[in-house]
Amino acid sequence: MKQKGESKLLKYLDERIRLRSLMSFLLDEPIPGGARWAYVFGSMVLFTLILQFLTGIMLAFYYGGTPDHAWDSVNYIDHLSFGGMGVGRLIRGLHYWGASMMVILVGVHLLQVFLWGAYKKPREIMWLVGVVLLALTMTAAFTGYLLPWDERAYWGTIVGTNMIGLVPIVGPILKSAIRGGVGLGALTLSHFFTIHTMVLPSMFILFVVFHLVIFRRIGPAGPYKGDPLALEARKEFFYPRQVLMDAMGMLAIFLVIAGLSLLRPPGLESVANPSNSSYSPTPAWYFDWIFQLLKMIRPEILGVVGLPALIGIVLVLLPFVDKRPERSPFRRPVAVLVTMVVLGAMMTLSVQAERGFKKLVSLEPRSVARGKLVFRQSGCIGCHTVNGQGGHIGPDLSEEGLVGHSEHWLVVQFVQSAAHFPHSPMPSFSYLKPDQLHDLAQYVSSLGRTGWPDPTK
Ligand code: HEC
Repeated sequence: MKQKGESKLLKYLDERIRLRSLMSFLLDEPIPGGARWAYVFGSMVLFTLILQFLTGIMLAFYYGGTPDHAWDSVNYIDHLSFGGMGVGRLIRGLHYWGASMMVILVGVHLLQVFLWGAYKKPREIMWLVGVVLLALTMTAAFTGYLLPWDERAYWGTIVGTNMIGLVPIVGPILKSAIRGGVGLGALTLSHFFTIHTMVLPSMFILFVVFHLVIFRRIGPAGPYKGDPLALEARKEFFYPRQVLMDAMGMLAIFLVIAGLSLLRPPGLESVANPSNSSYSPTPAWYFDWIFQLLKMIRPEILGVVGLPALIGIVLVLLPFVDKRPERSPFRRPVAVLVTMVVLGAMMTLSVQAERGFKKLVSLEPRSVARGKLVFRQSGCIGCHTVNGQGGHIGPDLSEEGLVGHSEHWLVVQFVQSAAHFPHSPMPSFSYLKPDQLHDLAQYVSSLGRTGWPDPTK
């Protein structure tokens, strides 16, 4: 339809690129039941992804992806890039907090689709594409973690890639392929940088387009209740109200990300030092719950391989196994219960992990290795089980490093167990020299910590 007094530019463009039909295609999507705030999350995720693209490109102008330059270039970004005055630090902050926010929003989006039953027929394939996007988001977070090449980045990635190495048969090959060698070095960094800045963004574009094309062809799922005729009667177009709501949602997310970037800019620890490994690696906060869970599942391999496989299989099979058309969360108690249990567990595990990080004795690999010898020679194994081997008179020590005892507490335990446990059958090991006691405490503190006792292997 033509309006009088319509701008000449619009007319010009319409004649040449059919602008009007393009705009009507983009804006006149019917929404059954009308616009709602509940629908803004998908747009918010898309917004954070675009923000990651833009800030990522800006960072790439200054970033140098080699072990000799990475840390310096990130330090330069913080202080001198884009004319200084904290502009670079702000951009890095946006990228850093944008990543956290994107992980949260992807989670919220997934949760909503799950609870609203929006993955059900005919949206199974759209759900699968969403699962791929979730995996891409996690991989982006993991590969981005290494790039600043500080201590946290380095040791976090050592632990992360060690886990990949535990996968049966292909694990070791995969691990050395990803690392580009035995340890972390120039090849690891360029592998991660390429995956992070080339492979993942292309895949993101492909799968986001796929996700959106399906969305436009199948249409929004709409409210989970109400009869179709009534919903049809209350139908609204995407423009203007939903566009406005989405825009407000995006603005709100941007303000949160910008606020965090200004108030809590990402830090940069000292440059990665592979030989000085008194460092206790910690993952990014959104991987905390996995980290904690991996510590609890024994044997280790069951957690490292089984847990992600289980999550993946459940997510992929969900729309094909759950075929009931019922969408209302009020009539799907199992779905609601599962959500609450999973969310509750994730939060509890994350809190436990964070508490653990604060208490952990920092470890020195050589001392841990010596402590292991002292442990063997002193006959501790006669009473204590470690990783399935040993006696049962004393408690299983396989996860003793996660309990959070201080070194002092442990040394007292070795020398005078009765100070902690009256009538303790554990003998005194006061004949050990102070440095042997220190090594022993280091070894015991390493037990059960992911990546230990020897993270360099
Ligand atoms: C004769 C058996 C025996 C031997 C040998 C022994 N322990 Fe124990 N240990 C125990 C018992 C039993 C406890 C539980 C506390 C108690 O009832 O005394 C314990 C407790 C501990 C604890 C505290 C666990 C906790 O968090 O509550 C640590 C750590 C420990 N032992 C380390 C060692 C080390 C290291 C050695 C070798 C140098 C060793 N033990 C040798 C019997 C033994």
